[in-house]
Amino acid sequence: MKKIGVLTSGGDAPGMNAAIRAVVRYGIYAGMEVMGIERGYQGLLDGDFIPLDMRSVSNIIQRGGTMLRTARCVDFKTAEGQQRGIEQLKAHGIEGLIVIGGDGSFMGAKALSEKGFPSIGIPGTIDNDLAYTDYTLGFDTACNTILDAINKLRDTMQSHERVSIIEVMGRHCGDLALYAGIGGGAEVIIVPEHPLTVDEICDRLQTSKKRGKNSGIVVLAEGAGHADDYAKAIAEKTGLSVRSAVLGHLQRGGSPSMKDRYLGTSMGVYAVQLLSKGIGNRVVGIHDNKIYDMDIVEACSMKHKFDLELYNMAGVVAR
Ligand code: ADP
Ligand code: F6P
Repeated sequence: MKKIGVLTSGGDAPGMNAAIRAVVRYGIYAGMEVMGIERGYQGLLDGDFIPLDMRSVSNIIQRGGTMLRTARCVDFKTAEGQQRGIEQLKAHGIEGLIVIGGDGSFMGAKALSEKGFPSIGIPGTIDNDLAYTDYTLGFDTACNTILDAINKLRDTMQSHERVSIIEVMGRHCGDLALYAGIGGGAEVIIVPEHPLTVDEICDRLQTSKKRGKNSGIVVLAEGAGHADDYAKAIAEKTGLSVRSAVLGHLQRGGSPSMKDRYLGTSMGVYAVQLLSKGIGNRVVGIHDNKIYDMDIVEACSMKHKFDLELYNMAGVVAR
């Protein structure tokens, strides 16, 4: 391949810029031209193509977000929209596409590949909800952002002898809550994969109080409910002083961690290598610290395995 395209799609994630930078720098090194497509699949349909050179991606590895911006595009879910996308790509002489996004975006890459347009997916989402890869781009940075918030909230909760219910993102996946909850020493972690009743949560908090803890941290995955609802129910049932905090889009920004910069860079290079061999319809992932690729359909059909052993361990060490 002599000319490839790259776009970012769906929710943005720290590390996407590292992946874009690697695609451009390694693509040019491999003798290719690289076109950026702005605003995801919507930009593809609108013809928002920009040529990228070595200098276009200077000074972005440390920046969160995506220099190509991202968007959601309903039209691209239709065969007609996908065909228009392929026509746009061909009109610009592009022979292969790299899509940096989550499982929804990967469905777009699958559709293009099935229509004979080689496409490669790089897992860019803070949710870590793609079962085929141990880590998705942005997950590590988002965990550290949550951890910073937990540390700050722990200070004031201890001063006022209160409980903080901290709602984190993750859509239907509980990994952000689980891993950041472990790192933050949360007394209770509530995830959609392992629902807890209000009574169970209250029992854990009251037991914690009996053991001499004068404050508490509860990390709640958004897929398991709303912080305000839990705060109200727990306060009513236990008489504890409870406050809620919804971290929201704070978790999507920030300078990517070393891990996400490394992941973005190595996955970007690997994706270009696949296209240079004419290989499409694959997604790039990391398993046991090794970058590898898998068929898109096979990868997206894998069910995310929640680590129940880790979850239970967290409960023990937070007593
Ligand atoms: P994510 O990639 O983070 O999961 P979304 O689920 O919002 O984000 O998907 C991002 C974009 O990918 C959508 O706006 C749409 O353009 C495209 N997309 C999602 N699902 C499909 C699908 N089944 N077929 C084709 N394109 C899709
Ligand atoms: O998929 C990433 C994510 O941040 C989810 O964790 C969250 O539920 C969703 O995107 C928020 O979507 P939006 O940015 O469109 O509000």
